[in-house]
Amino acid sequence: MEKVYITTAIPYVNGVPHIGHAMDYCLSDTYARYQRLIGNDVKFQAGTDEHGNKIFLKAKENGLPVEEYVSSNAQKFEQFVQELGVSYTDFIRTTDKDHKRRCQEIWLKLKDHIYSAKYEGWYCTGCERFVTAKECEENHGICPDHQKPYEKLEEENYYLRISDFKDRIREAISSGEMLILPDFRKNEILKLLEDSPDVSISRPKAQLTWGVPVPDDDSQVMYVWIDALANYITVLGYPDTDISAWWPAKAQFVGKDILRFHAIIWPAILIGLGLPLPRTIVSHGMVLADGQKMSKSIGNVVDPIEVLNRHGLDAFRYFFLRHIDTFADSDFTWEKYDAAYNNELANDLGNLVQRLATLAAKNNIILGDVSVELDPEYNELMNNFEFNKAFDYVWEKVQAINREIDEQKPWMLAKNGETEKLNDCMKKLIAELLSANLMLEPFIPTASEKIKAIFKDPIVPPKVPLFPKQ
Ligand code: MSP
Repeated sequence: MEKVYITTAIPYVNGVPHIGHAMDYCLSDTYARYQRLIGNDVKFQAGTDEHGNKIFLKAKENGLPVEEYVSSNAQKFEQFVQELGVSYTDFIRTTDKDHKRRCQEIWLKLKDHIYSAKYEGWYCTGCERFVTAKECEENHGICPDHQKPYEKLEEENYYLRISDFKDRIREAISSGEMLILPDFRKNEILKLLEDSPDVSISRPKAQLTWGVPVPDDDSQVMYVWIDALANYITVLGYPDTDISAWWPAKAQFVGKDILRFHAIIWPAILIGLGLPLPRTIVSHGMVLADGQKMSKSIGNVVDPIEVLNRHGLDAFRYFFLRHIDTFADSDFTWEKYDAAYNNELANDLGNLVQRLATLAAKNNIILGDVSVELDPEYNELMNNFEFNKAFDYVWEKVQAINREIDEQKPWMLAKNGETEKLNDCMKKLIAELLSANLMLEPFIPTASEKIKAIFKDPIVPPKVPLFPKQ
């Protein structure tokens, strides 16, 4: 049994969850459930990123004390994570007292790589990111993601000397010691790394009050990303506790927009602390709505609760894990969502369960011991984080069982009194379904659990179909 640590990005709490946030959760949870399925011991972090100017300004806009604002939104995020059936073991808030103290200790441990200097340049509060002059020029002074002009900053900051770590990071990425997925992002990151200057890791208190104070310097507060990235190890108890049982993480799940922080600044921090690098950083694409980036100004933000309420949790996870590409940007539309539910979940899987259970019950089929297993093809896809392909693979199995029933016509065997043949045929079909169902478990755990419960002796068909057509 392996000890496996899995992490998700921690969202900013400057609003309520949207369907984009679900991507990190669905992917990391599927991986966590798969790891448990193959017998591993899993620690799985989730949490909320609560500092920074963006959040501070939003609280003000809402007329609330910032502590109250972040607590109320953090609660909504934790509730959302639970509604998505995420099997996390630890939930961290960056405003936790222990997290803040641990961040300060981490800062002190990095002291040899930190220096103070004047920063003159650009910043995007939407991204909470310092922007190079080149990038600012290329984007004509406006952040393409937030459609807001970059702010010009002139301030005294602390810097992390990225140059101390570049060679080691490049080597780790190139050799695959720290795997960046998908592979095509690897070269992008290597190029960014070459051009990466030292990074500013603090802001003057006069500019940013809502953050972790820099130890030994009252005038500065930590840059929100330093405090945010540290969550992955402070949640394990670092530096108070030895974290080697869990760290390095086997997989860290992030969106492609924040890969640069995880593939450059994060490894720099870890190397500075003398800690090993994560084994894999999986960066997923963006969920679009009707082909466009979701934004409040366009008015196309899809409410995840509405999606959940439409066809339930299994349908939500089914769509996001199968029809949203694991690595590339993909589109959510209500039409596609309804079609996937009715034509695939209800027709392919729901009907299959109903047909087999009804036939089995009517003909008193006794299953006895059924051996179920994970196919090697499926294991390979899951281990390579190709979740939507693994899901496709299982779905083909589901469809193949449906075809097999049509070809073998077990109801004819029953009608002709061919009891032995009928028994063998039904047992084989149900065993195939239960194997497929086992492989579905990480993706749609509640449906999978129900199917397992139906096909136990004596088989009782569900009174209401598993996925009623809508
Ligand atoms: N707080 C930082 C992450 C810190 S991790 C140490 C942050 N927060 S976020 O709220 O902007 O994003 C949280 C996660 O949601 C990121 O992985 C991001 O890529 C993901 N997504 C946000 N919008 C998304 C889509 N529309 N589609 C898919 N994922 C998206 O960045």
